[in-house]
Amino acid sequence: MLKNLSQIITAMIFRGIAMEALVRAERAVRHLRSRLPKNWQPQAAVTLGTGLSGLAEEIEPFAVVPYAEIPGFPLSTVESHAGELILGNLAGRPVAALAGRFHLYEGYSAQEVVFPVRVLALLGAQAFIFSNAAGGLDLGMAPGRVMLVRDHINLTGRNPLRGPNLDQWGERFPDMSRTYDPGLMDLARRVARQEGIILYEGVYVSVMGPSLETPAETRMLRNMGADAVGMSTVLEVIAARHMGRRVAALSAIANVNDPDDMEAIALEAIIDNAARSGADLARLMKGMLAGV
Ligand code: HPA
Repeated sequence: MLKNLSQIITAMIFRGIAMEALVRAERAVRHLRSRLPKNWQPQAAVTLGTGLSGLAEEIEPFAVVPYAEIPGFPLSTVESHAGELILGNLAGRPVAALAGRFHLYEGYSAQEVVFPVRVLALLGAQAFIFSNAAGGLDLGMAPGRVMLVRDHINLTGRNPLRGPNLDQWGERFPDMSRTYDPGLMDLARRVARQEGIILYEGVYVSVMGPSLETPAETRMLRNMGADAVGMSTVLEVIAARHMGRRVAALSAIANVNDPDDMEAIALEAIIDNAARSGADLARLMKGMLAGV
């Protein structure tokens, strides 16, 4: 009897935690709807990672909402940019663009990292195109180019789905056999061909950071089958797939790491090289949006 009671109470607490996340996300959605034309909803969501900030200016905005104004959005740390959500039209499509994201290495929980993705999924986004800056592990890669993510390895030691599952959002054990949408990947390849863009394809491994990899870690990541390493995206992808959304991801190759001849990586070099990928990334994103 007592055991039953404690089980019931535990179940209620767990359900309460899950509902809290739902209530918070719905509150954010209500706030965003209040800022938008009636019935307007994004068809696709994009994250403007390092090197893609230029794309933000090409959006015809209906609303630009600072993260600090959106109820439930994590408060930004000193190091991270404040961030804003841009809602408007790009490439003829209604889109929601997240300019600025939350990383585990800043101290956010996995749930905080994926909160914006869940909010945009609830707002109506059916497809997500993520972008990031990454270190190349394939020595044939050149900095300044873009890699289409074909698959990922979650090496962060975190998962946003840990804890009670919210059945309204998705399954307890979501399938990850086809995480990256084959149709969106084909679209990316087609746009690359049409635009004359060199597009690598490969496996993205996400680590927690913020320290960069040692030569031994770089060798390990390469040997385990990764082509590029970074500190974002994977948790967001998991949350979007949990909710059944279509997902694609593009990595700006900011540096290439050779474990046998490891060079010191300067943050400025990462940002400069990621920005060099910016023009290709922007063309790929726009071409993909036009096709979703
Ligand atoms: N390692 C991890 N994250 C990164 C790198 C890297 O070399 N370059 C850009 N983001």
